Amino acid sequence: MLRHLLSPLDLSVTETDRLISVAQDIQANPQRYAHVADGKKLATCFYEPSTRTRLSFEAAMLNLGGSVLGFSSAQSSSVSKGESVADTVRVVGCYADVIAMRHPKEGAPMVASLYSPVPIINAGDGGHQHPTQTLTDLLTIRSEKGRLQDLTIGLCGDLKFGRTVHSLITALSRYPDIKFVLISPEELRLPDFVREDVLVKNHIPFEETGRIEDVLPQLDALYMTRVQRERFFNEEDYIRLKDRFILNADKLALAGPEMIVMHPLPRVNEIATEVDDDPRAVYFKQAQYGVYVRMALIMYLLGLEAQPC
Ligand code: NCD
Repeated sequence: MLRHLLSPLDLSVTETDRLISVAQDIQANPQRYAHVADGKKLATCFYEPSTRTRLSFEAAMLNLGGSVLGFSSAQSSSVSKGESVADTVRVVGCYADVIAMRHPKEGAPMVASLYSPVPIINAGDGGHQHPTQTLTDLLTIRSEKGRLQDLTIGLCGDLKFGRTVHSLITALSRYPDIKFVLISPEELRLPDFVREDVLVKNHIPFEETGRIEDVLPQLDALYMTRVQRERFFNEEDYIRLKDRFILNADKLALAGPEMIVMHPLPRVNEIATEVDDDPRAVYFKQAQYGVYVRMALIMYLLGLEAQPC
């Protein structure tokens, strides 16, 4: 049966854990994976800008021995002529074995999955979900902290529009003894489809605060996010909120020596560059983990096996 990845919940916890383990094996033994996707093609259909997600998908497929094709903006595809997502994937599905799609409209990859003859991977849909960033984040946490349970995770910034935050909370809520600390301005609090439907419904402990300084000492990981300018209706609100939380060396001094600082990137100025050299800052490593876990995901969706040692 055709499998798609639209939300983190499309993978069971067992499947998620297995993908993370495969990603760790890929990191340790890349040669075992160098030809598993020979002759296969990945299409990237990106209707919204991206650097890391699109290029890491491409790097992942190339590392597996496969090839890539696609478009990187709506303007450079037939959508500018009025083509629907449904028609586009029916056609791209004739050229590729798997499609990674990013779209500014929530639910577009889900619509695509109804028409596509090949697996659809949601590479970010509007302010909704971003499941492959979440796989990246889970691999980062498991590699850097050694576990995905018994953790206090702080998420800071634009929790309203930040799709990486929505997907990460949804995925981590399935592991035991997770607590969330939600740090945002009042206007950018977590939306109900995560707060009520994931946290409250599953009795996951969480607290909300507007002051990062107060909570830093209790965190195992701090997940910083950019204020999502492109999702605001007016520029004034964006300007008023964009610099509310800036992590600098002084604030980081309040955190424990083992706390990791994550960020899906791109960073605007919510993390001062002076933090980059702190050993707790793992956001550039995180981008590297994204390649390994996308390799594992492509293999899983295409039913590909590693070569024997
Ligand atoms: C994120 C995204 O696109 O949602 N970036 C990414 O995929 N690494 C975060 C962001 O754009 O702020």
